[in-house]
Amino acid sequence: MKVGIAREVFPGERRVAGNTDTVQRLRKLGFEVLVEKGAGALAMCADTAYVEAGATLRSAKELWDESDIVIKVRPPMDHPELKKHETELLKDGSTLISFFWPAENKELIEKLKGRPVNVIAMDAVPRISRAQKLDALSSMANMAGYRAIIEAANQFGRFFTGQITAAGKMPPAKVMIIGAGVAGLAAIGAAKGLGAIVRAFDTRPEVKEQVESMGAEFLEVAYEEDGSGEGGYAKLMSPEFIAAEMALFEAQARDVDIIVTTALIPGKKAPILITEKCARMMKPGSVIVDLAAERGGNCELTVADEIKDYDGVKVIGYTDLPGRMALQASQAYGTNLCHMLDELGKAEGFKFDLENEVVRGSLIIHEGELIWPPPKVEPKGAPKAVEKPKVEAKPASVEEEEEDDGWGTRAKKEPQRDFTKNNMTLALGGTLLLLIGYGAPQTFLMHLTVFVLAIFVGYQIIWNVTAALHTPLMSVTNAISGIIIVAGLLQVTDTATAATSILGAIAVLVATINISGGFLVTQRMLKMFHR
Ligand code: NAI
Repeated sequence: MKVGIAREVFPGERRVAGNTDTVQRLRKLGFEVLVEKGAGALAMCADTAYVEAGATLRSAKELWDESDIVIKVRPPMDHPELKKHETELLKDGSTLISFFWPAENKELIEKLKGRPVNVIAMDAVPRISRAQKLDALSSMANMAGYRAIIEAANQFGRFFTGQITAAGKMPPAKVMIIGAGVAGLAAIGAAKGLGAIVRAFDTRPEVKEQVESMGAEFLEVAYEEDGSGEGGYAKLMSPEFIAAEMALFEAQARDVDIIVTTALIPGKKAPILITEKCARMMKPGSVIVDLAAERGGNCELTVADEIKDYDGVKVIGYTDLPGRMALQASQAYGTNLCHMLDELGKAEGFKFDLENEVVRGSLIIHEGELIWPPPKVEPKGAPKAVEKPKVEAKPASVEEEEEDDGWGTRAKKEPQRDFTKNNMTLALGGTLLLLIGYGAPQTFLMHLTVFVLAIFVGYQIIWNVTAALHTPLMSVTNAISGIIIVAGLLQVTDTATAATSILGAIAVLVATINISGGFLVTQRMLKMFHR
């Protein structure tokens, strides 16, 4: 099976869908790799290096004609050399894997619908833990966040870190990051690394701890509204909240030297958070880097792909920040693509498993049929959205109510039936306990009560804790395992019956596995933060 790395034809795009490392990985997955001549020229990947890594060079036409899978960075567009749209160049039976933005590129979908081809959108990979290694949006945003600080430093005519020299005292630069998602956190890391004082704001309160753990100050507004949306993304905020946060930014603008904005809701236009008035409040020499420039920008003064100077305040609107680190961006994107191809069954078992939520979520066109957006899957352990009661809420009714399931369809809600079911379960449980209480010895009853309570409390704790907090939760379970080991040891030494000794030994073994496993996982997570 042939995978073709096509040359990017988007003007100014420096990235390529993989470097030599990608070629080697693809070969390990069993693919034959074709690379279009000159594909990696702007990413410092020479044709000769690709050949050394085991790829075969092809002209543009040969590559599109021969590849069973074409991998690209940008969505398909008019090919200036071949004078055809890339959607037409895709041969029958083949698969295209690239960024695609299906929600905005309706005309691309129309071009491909009905043709015997498949399209995987790397921007549609679900943001779930299992899919992190395929998450190209995060890899690119991570680089964009880092690069935003480097670009800001380049325009900012001062030290980031504070200095006391013979020539006087120089205060550290103050940086404010708006939106502490992937890009925002990377920007915090880079700015802290350079020695700046960093503050960050986000609408999702759960990122406060992440911001603080990176050594930045988390800014808050007096207005209460949770910005957490679905699938780890944020939701659109109310106009009142936006007004409150803009007041905060105006107050900060007078004090900070650099503002990096990354606030965006997927698929929506970027909200204006820094007005012209606010930007002009900054001291001369200050810099704003607007990562949301491609979607209109978070700053009113942003011009996409340009640096504008407003009386000494520079506004950077670059939309190609990962491309400014083209070699590493290409390598990271290539690795994401390899993981996607691994998920698709490698060369030998290549198929679109519609039961696989990662594949299903990113598959846009399957054999000519548009199958996006995928059916909604409720993530396990995800916290339920807490809606504040509305003032004009209707009085509760015992009749069937309709409930919006978030996808436009309306599901029936049956509170009455749920209530009856719960009562039945309670009554059944109660009767069972009474019967046991009638016949069983008192000590057994005591243990049973503790056992049932432990199950109940354990269940409530695990299912009501946000998935993101499962690691600290593990520390607690380690402590509990410690208690189990002590209890187990006491039973092992009890020579009364062989059964209690055996059960005690099993308890010690299982709890030890839990503790050592917990330490191993924690150790691996800590290593991720080591420099
Ligand atoms: P993300 O979804 O992980 O983070 C966005 C953050 O903004 C979220 O934490 C969200 O809660 C926050 N947010 C949303 N509305 C807000 C508001 N009104 N006020 C404050 N915070 C708000 O997104 P990611 O991956 O970090 O990307 C961030 C931005 O970077 C996106 O706009 C993306 O398009 C852009 N980007 C730009 C590149 C460039 O070259 N300029 C390259 C890659 C990404």
